[in-house]
Amino acid sequence: MTACTPLIIDTDPGVDDAFALVLALCSPEVDVRAVTVTFGNVSLDKTSANARRVLALAGRTDVPVAAGAARPLVHAQAELASDWHGVDGLGLRSDDFPEPGPADPRAAVTLMADVLRASPDPVTLVSLGPMTNTAVLLTAHPELAPRIARIVAMGGSMGTGNTRGAGEFNVYADPEAAHRVLTEPAVPVILVPLDLTMGCLADGAWLDALAAAGPRCATLVSTVTLYRQVFRERYGLDAVALHDTLAVLEAVLPGTLRTAALPISVECNLGPGRGMTVAERHPDAPGPPPVRVAPAPHTPGPPVHVALEADTPAVLSDTLRRLVTFG
Ligand code: RIB
Ligand code: CA
Repeated sequence: MTACTPLIIDTDPGVDDAFALVLALCSPEVDVRAVTVTFGNVSLDKTSANARRVLALAGRTDVPVAAGAARPLVHAQAELASDWHGVDGLGLRSDDFPEPGPADPRAAVTLMADVLRASPDPVTLVSLGPMTNTAVLLTAHPELAPRIARIVAMGGSMGTGNTRGAGEFNVYADPEAAHRVLTEPAVPVILVPLDLTMGCLADGAWLDALAAAGPRCATLVSTVTLYRQVFRERYGLDAVALHDTLAVLEAVLPGTLRTAALPISVECNLGPGRGMTVAERHPDAPGPPPVRVAPAPHTPGPPVHVALEADTPAVLSDTLRRLVTFG
């Protein structure tokens, strides 16, 4: 039995975040030491309550949950995602969940720092929302970077985004924070962009199989109804991208996603390209050439391990196999 990987999950639940949290809790290879919450899909008060609802549903109120950033580092949040996740953040089904468990009184960054100091082994930090809490952690506690094994972050896109702007939602929500995390060499970063997550869609049969696995799985799947409707309307697909679950699966099973080492720049101006992530590719680098709306915004930092390929049928079946144990 390999050693259990300690995790901190930073999240903005969020429907796919809820699936990702449950996936982590149902994976024996990892030990969720803490959940920290950020603004993002919906406001912090709701994302915090939602994280605690999911943990209560899982019977895991032993896991500390601390609230962090209520807004981005510099500029106000330009866009919520309540049209995808519902105004409550759980597909308008938050009332089907237990009452939220108690919030940890510490600020998110304090809880993160305490967990890092207490862990005998380096901790994997999984970022599933705007990267604000992670940016503040790295800035306030540079001495703790060696205690972070790696950061696995869902975010970015090497092509088009999924917001009204050009960026992917998590990066667009706080580009300055993403710049800090992705372009300054504190910790190895695995970035899981839309290019991969949008190619790994859970269809109706997958969702039905999960819903049939038990009452808690049915509650989880009920949150996806609105999200699935938006996918039909926006993309003409009867399937959903559970973006955040891919980042968790990579944290659980390192190497599941195949990466390319690419220096990433983040567009932080206030123009139409704000929140774009641009990979500085060499001519023979794998994958499509970068889509450039604006010139490369910054001198690129060290390479980020960008996950561009995976055995998506295996990812979906492995994710389902784990989630059904939720019962
Ligand atoms: O772009 C997808 C990301 O934005 C996911 O983390 C989803 O939860 C939303 O936060
Ligand atoms: Ca998220």
